[in-house]
Formats: sequence, structure tokens, C-alpha cells
Amino acid sequence: MYSDKVMDHFQNPRNMGKIEDADLVGEVGNPTCGDIMKIYIDIDENEEIKDIKFNTFGCGAAVATSSMVTELVKGKTLDEAMDITNEEIAEALDGLPPAKMHCSNLAADAVKDAIEKYRNPEEQTSEQEETVAE
Ligand code: FES
Repeated sequence: MYSDKVMDHFQNPRNMGKIEDADLVGEVGNPTCGDIMKIYIDIDENEEIKDIKFNTFGCGAAVATSSMVTELVKGKTLDEAMDITNEEIAEALDGLPPAKMHCSNLAADAVKDAIEKYRNPEEQTSEQEETVAE
């Protein structure tokens, strides 16, 4: 059912953990299954990703796709990382079963969430204020 690459990244996840005081932090929940992924990114002065780590409370496919996304975007600029798609992640893992494709959204969306929060900190603040006010 799963490719060797998926099994490898599931059993030996790359870049799992947390970066203390990371420059960027993203978090998304998967509405389909309720699983959660958190991503931590450190960048250099050219906005290149020099370190990235993830924590996933999710299924094996979520762990494997999260692990793969950290490898794919490391060394890329934030602009390049923003363009990553769940299809690219699945392809890099030699495919995912169709029922598990939604799991790869978690990884791509967490990277995008981190970049968006970094670029639009005011929006995040006002959104949070709205939530508090509700
Ligand atoms: Fe939730 Fe895969 S079943 S991320």
C-alpha cells in the first residue's frame, strides 16, 4: 500500500522536533481527520531556510509527508517554499494512496501558514483580537 520511501520517512523521520525561538512557526489542523502539524523554520538574511523542524500529531502518511517537506524546502527561499504543492510532496515519496492524499496537505499548508504569519504579523494580531472579542 505504501511505497518504500513513505515507509522510510515514517520510520526514520527527518528533522523531527522543535526549534527554540524559531524565526517562523506555522500550525495547521487537518479538518478531515483532526490531525495537527506544527512547523518551525529558521532563515538567514536572504530569507533562505537554513533549518526546519516539525512535530506532527497525525497518521503515518502525515509523518512521512512532513519529513519529506522539510527535506524539500531546506535551502530554498521563502518564496520558493511558498510554491510547494501536496502533489510534489507525494511525488517525492513515490506516491501516496488516494485516500491519504489529504494528509500531504497538512505538510504543505503548515509551511505556508508559517510564511504567511511571518509576512503578515498584523493580520494575525487582528484575527486573534477578533477571536478574543467574539
Ligand atoms: Fe490525518 Fe493522515 S489521517 S493526516
